[in-house]
Amino acid sequence: MATEKSIKAATEHPDIEFQAGSGIYVYEGVPYPWFVHAVTLDALKTFEVRDDDVYIVSFPKSGTTWMQEIVSMIYYNGDIEKITSIHVEERVPHLEMSTAKPGNILYKKIANMPRDKPRLIKTHMAFNTMPADFHKKNAKVIYIARNYKDVCVSVYHFLKMFKAYTDDDRVGSWEDVLSKMLIPMQTPYGSWVHHVTSWWQHRNDENVLYLKYEDMKRDLRGAVTKICDHIGKKLSDEALHKTVDHCTFEKMSQNPMANFTGLEDFDQNISKFMRKGNTN
Ligand code: A3P
Repeated sequence: MATEKSIKAATEHPDIEFQAGSGIYVYEGVPYPWFVHAVTLDALKTFEVRDDDVYIVSFPKSGTTWMQEIVSMIYYNGDIEKITSIHVEERVPHLEMSTAKPGNILYKKIANMPRDKPRLIKTHMAFNTMPADFHKKNAKVIYIARNYKDVCVSVYHFLKMFKAYTDDDRVGSWEDVLSKMLIPMQTPYGSWVHHVTSWWQHRNDENVLYLKYEDMKRDLRGAVTKICDHIGKKLSDEALHKTVDHCTFEKMSQNPMANFTGLEDFDQNISKFMRKGNTN
């Protein structure tokens, strides 16, 4: 819960002072949400990145889960049976998440993942806050950017159904949420402009594929093909077709391994995790 106690837990660190009631705290100049612990951010500085890692990177609510599902479908060669037997957050764990259930701190689990196949890893880190080792390795990145208006709307509805926030009655009106999201230091992960541009500057790096949510909505098959090329995976026509079909909003919103139903942290009677999946 985003109570003062859990924010304190997030920031149990000699150099950090948390701001009571905010749900976020500032670590080395960047505001993070309470579910990312400062000790995790410390530990990620020395996290070992592998050359064959694949990082799915985004500002929150930009279509990260969509990309996690697509990339894992590609890696599982379009094997829907296999994919739907493992939750998307297990197939592609969230690097800096410190309060996941079960298991809590995920980077330790990620560090111990077998070396016989690439790790698929989700993160919301801006380029400059990635682990130092990332800058020395050739790990692949797929960045997904979404326009900020839709991100803000998606965040608002997400907070409403995220029990950690509603239990504390912290969310407030759309105007309250929007006014906070227009102030980078009050927004989890900080400035959207900084985030998208930090990766945009690296869009031509060989290891980076920079995609936009809106383009993916227009041409999902084209995006899947680009991702396959980027990560060097060739899918059969049948597997490509299955991947595209499985990752449409309509199919994914019915998929309990991707739509977050069953996760007790969320009350989807208030709003669905996969809400509209549209551009406005
Ligand atoms: P909305 O709240 O606008 O519906 P993230 O995974 O980064 O938290 O992003 C969540 C947003 O991505 C939600 O947006 C969700 O509906 C959307 N999304 C998830 N899967 C999608 C898909 N297959 N097609 C389009 N949008 C999708």
